Amino acid sequence: MIIIKTLEEIEKMKKAGEILAKTHLELRKFIHPGVSTAEIDQVAENFIRSHGAIPAQIGYKDYPYATCTSVNDEICHGFPLKEIILKEGDLVTVDMVVLLDGYMADSAWSYGVGQVSKEVADLMAATKKSLYLGIEQARVGNRIGDIGHAIQSYVEPLGYSVVRDFIGHGIGKDMHEDPQVPHYGRPGRGPRIMEGMVFTIEPMINTGAWMSKLDSNGWTARTVDGSLSCQYEHTLAVTADGPIILTDQSLWSEDDSDA
Ligand code: MF3
Ligand code: CO
Repeated sequence: MIIIKTLEEIEKMKKAGEILAKTHLELRKFIHPGVSTAEIDQVAENFIRSHGAIPAQIGYKDYPYATCTSVNDEICHGFPLKEIILKEGDLVTVDMVVLLDGYMADSAWSYGVGQVSKEVADLMAATKKSLYLGIEQARVGNRIGDIGHAIQSYVEPLGYSVVRDFIGHGIGKDMHEDPQVPHYGRPGRGPRIMEGMVFTIEPMINTGAWMSKLDSNGWTARTVDGSLSCQYEHTLAVTADGPIILTDQSLWSEDDSDA
């Protein structure tokens, strides 16, 4: 069942999204070669808590950390660990959920560590672009399948693949609500998009095959062929005038070099 949000609820989710967006802006300054993913997690958790919010991933289905930090061939749900030290050229995705005043926002962002190769830079640019092409489809009158179609039909001709095993989702008082939002699909299919829906779009795009395998920790998914995986995720609200990005970083950024 899709839970439609009131304007007041969307306002609350926007406040959670503001803290989340500012956390990412903080991380952008912090992520460099030599930093461990455990340190990234600590910076994020401290920032969220010091702003009066709760890192909602901790304890969710027994997930142990505030963030997921997924490096290179890791698709999602990478564990932030002190022995995982980022090096020049790595690609790391940091995903987190912020809970404030009973409502959640969810956003993942990919960062290049130091100077990255053209392969990494191109993948990052295409993945981010695919997210915004998906968001553009989140309009009253469209269907959920239009979102996935926009993403898939943009990235596949570039030689990339769309991860199937993890998808976007409705969000509100709970982290995962209906609808399910695949990042692949056919136009005109799936649930109708209606005013007051709030959901994530979070394409995971690989340089190789889309298939994933799970680490022995039961969480971390990585590409079967060792190829690179990148992800950008926003939480957005559907209004009569189109989508509003609740986790928009550019609202709070001094420069507009990203987002
Ligand atoms: N933020 C993730 C998402 O987009 C959820 C991570 S699962 C958790 O759905 F267990 F880490 F919370
Ligand atoms: Co997320």
